[in-house]
Amino acid sequence: MTDLTIVELSAEQTHPLRLTVLRSDTPSSSVTFAEDDWAGTFHLGVLDGESLVAISTWIPRPHHDEPAIQLRGMATAPELQGRGVGALLLEAGCERAAASTSLVWARARDTALPFYLRHGFVVDGDGFVDEHTAKPHHIIARRLRQALHPVNRIAISPLTKSAHVTSSARTAQSTASMGTAFALPPWMKSIRRDLVPSSSRRR
Ligand SMILES: CC(C)(COP(=O)(O)OP(=O)(O)OC[C@H]1O[C@@H](n2cnc3c(N)ncnc32)[C@H](O)[C@@H]1OP(=O)(O)O)[C@@H](O)C(=O)NCCC(=O)NCCS
Repeated sequence: MTDLTIVELSAEQTHPLRLTVLRSDTPSSSVTFAEDDWAGTFHLGVLDGESLVAISTWIPRPHHDEPAIQLRGMATAPELQGRGVGALLLEAGCERAAASTSLVWARARDTALPFYLRHGFVVDGDGFVDEHTAKPHHIIARRLRQALHPVNRIAISPLTKSAHVTSSARTAQSTASMGTAFALPPWMKSIRRDLVPSSSRRR
């Protein structure tokens, strides 16, 4: 991995990774969500150099009648899973969400539950089999510490040209200039040094 950058994506830019990671073994191969273009929905990704290697979609949708944001379509390219990319994206999204809500929730695959539980989510209710994926899921929710962050600590840049993700997620068209550095939150100190942009490393 080279420098990792959090980027804002269009819904379409999430489609290749949604297909590769989330729809490779499911009854449905649809990569669109009805909520993709709702007002307030945003899509965040992680660039490794110029390759889009992780995606997520954040949808304003109440949970138990409380204003909240639903996280959907969270995925990391298979060859980069388990290296902290998902953690970086999840925290960036939660920081952005905290500007408008104090609750994030998701319908999480049971296989991904340990990942979410390590990042402050708790299970909310009984398990169920999701109709789109035919996989066991649980509802999870995370209470955000403080709403009204005026500025994200993790900088998010617009992705102005479309990135193309191959099955190896290694080929991408060149992208516009991206934000170069972002402040790492305290929990990131446990992440391996090679995940930290050189400009943010302690010398
Ligand atoms: C779930 C998913 C999005 C997480 O993304 P990721 O990039 O793999 O996330 P991370 O690397 O931050 O964390 C994954 C695991 O690697 C471990 N990890 C994190 N950083 C690490 C590092 N530097 N070195 C080694 N392991 C590390 C974490 O402890 C974590 O373990 P856990 O799952 O037991 O909690 C990703 O695995 C994925 O796309 N899975 C398939 C699709 C899916 O299930 N999506 C979620 C739908 S709800």
